[in-house]
Amino acid sequence: MNQSIISLREKLDATLNTVSTISELENIKVEYLGKKGSVTALLKNMGSLSPEERKSFGSEVNALKNYVEQAISEKTAILQALELQKELDAVEDFDVSVPPVLEHGSYHPITLVQRKCEEVFRTMGFVVEDYSEIVTDYECFESLNIPPFHPARDMQDTYYLDNGQLLKTQTSAAQNAIYKKYRDALINEGKPIKAVFPGRCFRNEATDACHENTFFQMEGVMVGKDISIANLIYSMKTMLSEVFENYDLKVRLRPGFFPFVEPGFELDISCQICGGEGCPSCKHSGWLELCPCGMIHPNVLKEGGIDPDEYTGFAFGLGLTRLVMMKYGVKDIRDLNSGSLTAMSQFIEDK
Ligand code: DAH
Repeated sequence: MNQSIISLREKLDATLNTVSTISELENIKVEYLGKKGSVTALLKNMGSLSPEERKSFGSEVNALKNYVEQAISEKTAILQALELQKELDAVEDFDVSVPPVLEHGSYHPITLVQRKCEEVFRTMGFVVEDYSEIVTDYECFESLNIPPFHPARDMQDTYYLDNGQLLKTQTSAAQNAIYKKYRDALINEGKPIKAVFPGRCFRNEATDACHENTFFQMEGVMVGKDISIANLIYSMKTMLSEVFENYDLKVRLRPGFFPFVEPGFELDISCQICGGEGCPSCKHSGWLELCPCGMIHPNVLKEGGIDPDEYTGFAFGLGLTRLVMMKYGVKDIRDLNSGSLTAMSQFIEDK
């Protein structure tokens, strides 16, 4: 074997015996195998040899290269094991019976309130449906009695995709699909449609403490024979009493306009801060505006394949984000989407 190869091997063996850290090993690796390393230099010199010498020397250098690689990787494994052992020795006094001091994650206040609402509606026989955040113009507007150029569109500018679809501005965008999904059971089996569908909505709006471009709503519909405003009031009152855990909670309806309901209402609840006596939160009126709703417009039912002469229904669009702000006293809507654990952990109920 070539003398220079033998002495490189011996030198490597000797150095590896004295190495005690991974970073030293890294340096040795560079010293031998790096661009300017000694093994690399041998390979470079091969050009000056005769073809026969080159063949035998080449295979010796390759064997050396493999030897160096293997020796370094074996040593790495030994050092890693030693380092792990050192760490383990350092926690020798570790007591497995001491509870860990880990920070636990928790649900976002919107998730908590959404789940509570879903639970209450389920007990009243509603199904909970999920729906896409990207919808068509037909779903978000036209099927809801909002034709192109209707002024109601001005208040709901949103983000449009290149293919003409849009980020939904309201959970009402799922109404048409829900009617189509359940109308056969309604018409053939007489089963009323009872569904809630929570979702994230988007509007192209400047943000401030009360407005966000991204927020959550929960839409609900009930369609059947003789469904009336009484059903609407009962359902909303039951749900809100449970969410606020206040069974004396009062609701009232005021007229409101939305193209997809007739008549349309704004549903107010008695102020949960002053109990209805009047305070700054309710602008001294004793009432808080909470949920727009109404009796589903005949055109909307027709568009969903349901005969408005035979069936009636109510719909509501509960602002979940708003409900959360009221329930937990959140003053700035932007905190809810901030991802700030400090801001959010104040409102956590269920860890
Ligand atoms: N989708 C309406 C909005 O976001 C809210 C709404 C109003 C929903 C009345 C309804 C309703 O279902 O009946 O402004």
